Amino acid sequence: MRVTFCVGGSILAPDDPDVSCIREIAQTLRALKSQKHEILVVIGGGGSSRKYIEVARKLKASSTLCDIIGIDVTRLNARLLIAALGNLAEQEPLTTFAAAIRAMLRGKVPVMGGMMPGQTTDAVAAMLASSSKSELLIFLTDVDGVYTADPKINSRAKKLERMTVDELMKLVTAKKVKPGINVIIDPVCARLIQRRGMRTLVLGKHEIKRLPEILKGAKHSGTTIVPG
Ligand code: UTP
Repeated sequence: MRVTFCVGGSILAPDDPDVSCIREIAQTLRALKSQKHEILVVIGGGGSSRKYIEVARKLKASSTLCDIIGIDVTRLNARLLIAALGNLAEQEPLTTFAAAIRAMLRGKVPVMGGMMPGQTTDAVAAMLASSSKSELLIFLTDVDGVYTADPKINSRAKKLERMTVDELMKLVTAKKVKPGINVIIDPVCARLIQRRGMRTLVLGKHEIKRLPEILKGAKHSGTTIVPG
């Protein structure tokens, strides 16, 4: 199966880069590759990007410059996964979809960070999934699925096992995209999932090890997003 993964910076580098999480992701991707899956990966910025953006804001950087700094950090995080994957990975973070797809077709795992200001890596992942004709888009995040509200703030928030992309749109469009935005899936990405009707899973990091069986159809504890 051809799968695009969006690895949240929130799990890969929640505050500082998490070496055991990076190792675990690399090990799982290696297992998936040995099962002949085709893999493309997009990496988020996490705590490091938020720290850099915060400082840039204090220095009166424009929103665009804040975003560019965020993108630089996502590419730095991408390099860490590339290091952990060794020869299996394309050795540079990819900056175009065409290059990422070419690397995947050569049997490598392409790792991308952010691309352009005004969005997050969620949107990059949706565009990569769409342009590579991936059968599945998987978000690995620090929340174990999509909730009716932010579970870190609202204790009555309920996890949704299954939702339509129209429901997802309603949930996320209330948020304005700005540098360092912190939502489960950014609105630009949700719109892309809606337009392209992509099969999408949102999974917590505890499901990383189970990815080989989940791709075979095993039940998972996250959220499945189905076309509206
Ligand atoms: P991300 O927002 O994608 O990482 O990029 P993240 O939010 O830390 O990962 P998760 O979802 O919480 O786990 C960090 C910042 O980089 C800029 C934005 O400012 C974003 O907030 N960015 C990223 C862009 O401007 N364009 C991109 O294509 C990607």
